[in-house]
Amino acid sequence: MFSPEGPTFRELTRQALSSVEHGYDLLAGKFDATPFRTPDRVLASVADALEPLGPFDAGLDVCCGTGAGLDVLRSVCAGRIAGVDFSAGMLAEARRTHPAATLVRADALALPFAPVFDLAVSFGAFGHFLPYEQRILFAQVHAALRRGGTFAFPLPAPPRVGSVPYWTLWAFDAAMRLRNAVWRPPFVMYYRTFRLADVRSALRAAGFEVELRAMPALGVRDDGSPRCRLVVARKP
Ligand SMILES: C[S@@+](CC[C@H](N)C(=O)[O-])C[C@H]1O[C@@H](n2cnc3c(N)ncnc32)[C@H](O)[C@@H]1O
Repeated sequence: MFSPEGPTFRELTRQALSSVEHGYDLLAGKFDATPFRTPDRVLASVADALEPLGPFDAGLDVCCGTGAGLDVLRSVCAGRIAGVDFSAGMLAEARRTHPAATLVRADALALPFAPVFDLAVSFGAFGHFLPYEQRILFAQVHAALRRGGTFAFPLPAPPRVGSVPYWTLWAFDAAMRLRNAVWRPPFVMYYRTFRLADVRSALRAAGFEVELRAMPALGVRDDGSPRCRLVVARKP
């Protein structure tokens, strides 16, 4: 699962026993060598799906980590690009690889921005937010967008009930709930708390109009449905 440049089992365990913020500080230097970084083919597919929806001026990557989504913004935004994350370690890595981006340390649940962005994206971070926090997060992104602005992110189809990936994610979430019941600080990371129907209604509650876009490069499932869709939420 991890390359030789990635974290050791001991390092991962230390990270998993920390808070989310401190855990990512510990992991930052090796994060890009883990499967937790959004893969390039997903980033490329999102950039392709966004291309016809532009042109965009200023762009924001929410929970940018080491900056995977900043390259997507660079390819579709003509103006300033920015990333926000609460881990100083992850931001330091992003600063090293994306010196021209504006990088801001802040909690995504309290974004420190006026409505100046035309496009916001986010990758791989929604599992860190409990369902009631997802609603706050969407409201914060909505407030950071200009009128007519777009919030877009990929949403993989859930694994088929009873399949190996289904039970793997189920077991991961169960282990995390157990860990959080007995250990402080909590490390919130659940894979099964971000479902399309809930996401759609939470985005609408935040004031967005929502549509889904195909991401054909990421393939289809046995029943012909897409493996991943791009959620496109527009601030009217
Ligand atoms: C799995 S990483 C994803 C990083 C990057 N977006 C990517 O796809 O490679 C999740 C990121 O979310 C950040 N994060 C989690 N909760 C956050 C919060 N409440 N506010 C800001 N950043 C947060 C973490 O610090 C971490 O950098």
